[in-house]
Amino acid sequence: MARVLVAEELAEAGLDLLREAGHDVDVRIGLSPQELRGAMAGAQALVVRSATQVDAALLEAADGLVVVGRAGVGLDNVDVNAATARGVLVCNAPASNVVSAAEMTIALMLSLARNIPQAHVALSEGRWERGKWGGMEINRKTVGILGLGRVGRLVAERLAPFDVALVAFDPYVTEQSARAAGVDMVPFETLLDVSDIITLHLPRTPDTAGLLGADNLARCRPHALIVNTARGGILDEAAAAAALDAGRLGGVALDVYETEPMTESPLFGRPDVVATPHLGASTAEAQDRAGAQIAEQVNLALAGDPVPYAVNS
Ligand code: MLT
Repeated sequence: MARVLVAEELAEAGLDLLREAGHDVDVRIGLSPQELRGAMAGAQALVVRSATQVDAALLEAADGLVVVGRAGVGLDNVDVNAATARGVLVCNAPASNVVSAAEMTIALMLSLARNIPQAHVALSEGRWERGKWGGMEINRKTVGILGLGRVGRLVAERLAPFDVALVAFDPYVTEQSARAAGVDMVPFETLLDVSDIITLHLPRTPDTAGLLGADNLARCRPHALIVNTARGGILDEAAAAAALDAGRLGGVALDVYETEPMTESPLFGRPDVVATPHLGASTAEAQDRAGAQIAEQVNLALAGDPVPYAVNS
């Protein structure tokens, strides 16, 4: 039996699997970094989502730590190198929430194109602003997909019936594989030049941080809409607000922020922005899958068995 410290919300299905394997499951949500370090003593497994920074200091706080399980996809909050150096296995649940993330992208895209949240708020407050919230059709527009991985491809599939032209930039994807998904690969600059809508599906890395900053935003079409459900900081929020102010961008929809939780982004409170608090994976289906998948991986790691979704073994 091992002690499994669960530091963020995990679906009941996942908690049950850990308990059924005989582990002592300690759910400690909302701890400060210092409190979490204190709670790590004696833990053999740590399970997190995206809000917990699993850094070297946290890893050091648990001598017998065997595995860090990330109940979701992104690993930018886990210092995988520090974990590897300490012999700690890191695993994630890479396919658990991709459908939810793709659906969230489409929802935000349409909400932004048709100003649905803004009109909803106005009407809820008693204002019939029919003349104010004219929108844009998606039909026959060019959508640029930055990052044609799992989520980018699901977004492309879901956009195809809208009769759009799909272009993508992704240095790791071949033209042939993109064409099979109905997408034309183009250079990064071309994507910025031609897209009416740009949607981000890249991980946050040193190469992608600030990718859509002032210079690259200046290349975008003045009516272009940008949707970011990937990771905060790939789109520079201050630069995007400045571009909107200058009339060099049509609108922004975002679910992810440079730092989270975020309550003071320069993009908040604008009529040309739709913003949600990192809800991409927040569906019952995605959370059940993420919880169950990560519990299975953690159970395998604790049993000393091969872990299919290990990222550093
Ligand atoms: C992910 O990377 O899996 C998503 O952003 C969802 C999450 O962090 O929970």
